[in-house]
Amino acid sequence: MTLRAGIFGYPIAHSISPAMHNAAFARIGFDATYEAWETPPDALAASVSRLRDGGYLGANVTVPHKRAVMDCLDETDDIAARIGAVNTIVIDGVIDSATDGVTGGRLLGTNTDAYGFIRSLELEAGVEVSGMDVALAGAGGAARAAAYGLAAEGIDTLYIANRTLERARTLADEMAAQGIRARAVALSSSSFADICRHADLLVNTTSIGMLHGPAEGESPVPVDALRPGLVVYDMVYNPSVTPLLSAAQDAGATCVGGLTMLVHQGAAAFERWTGAKAPADTMLAAARDALGL
Ligand code: ATR
Repeated sequence: MTLRAGIFGYPIAHSISPAMHNAAFARIGFDATYEAWETPPDALAASVSRLRDGGYLGANVTVPHKRAVMDCLDETDDIAARIGAVNTIVIDGVIDSATDGVTGGRLLGTNTDAYGFIRSLELEAGVEVSGMDVALAGAGGAARAAAYGLAAEGIDTLYIANRTLERARTLADEMAAQGIRARAVALSSSSFADICRHADLLVNTTSIGMLHGPAEGESPVPVDALRPGLVVYDMVYNPSVTPLLSAAQDAGATCVGGLTMLVHQGAAAFERWTGAKAPADTMLAAARDALGL
């Protein structure tokens, strides 16, 4: 029997996760299929509960369910609890040879975004972030995953810049509790541009620059804050070269796009579900294909 995996989201039609995971299953010869499960908020609990019925391998969770799904699970691990979001559900049960499905499953929530972020930084930019001063644009779910990933790697100082300052302050307080020096600033302030001029790493987690987003064609940071020696990481992956990355390239900075994070968070989920090594190169090629790159 072919096991089922998939992603809960709303809307979900344009997700590239099915292309990425189905290519990976085919590549390693694992008999499973990955589907996009369009799930309105009021259907989330019942839809997630079906994972206990057998025949399922595991699931991903995306916007707008990453926080709400935590109430639908049996357990949430430490990293997901700290980030406050689950992007991966692991079914902790036994493979039943009669149904070939995972049965009696307890649903465990984890979060592979922080891992995907750090792994892609290491692979794409060849940097170790320990001891770095990091400028982080945004304070939403993606920023929280980046912040906890960076904290675990032992960065020196985290500057958190957000349009809504209060959210940046909340995250900065949490980072301070983790033993990280953290400071909150307004995203559009001149002090954030100054911070970028001296930082080792700049990470954009806002939707600024995203195709069809509220600030398409814009950059979260002024051009004159970019320089050679700065590593610029943009979590926005469509377009693949955002206005921020384009300006960073022109300024001679080291650039990393968001597609590799998507691949590595997916690869980590894939490995949790299958116990097999994820073919990350195949996943990246499938993701690029799905985006028409
Ligand atoms: P995600 O899970 O992708 O991080 P989110 O939690 O909705 O999504 O967070 C979106 C982030 O992008 C927030 O930091 C948001 O700023 P606010 O907290 O002030 O809302 C930021 N963002 C989105 N659109 C923005 C815009 N037009 N200008 C500035 N910041 C924006």
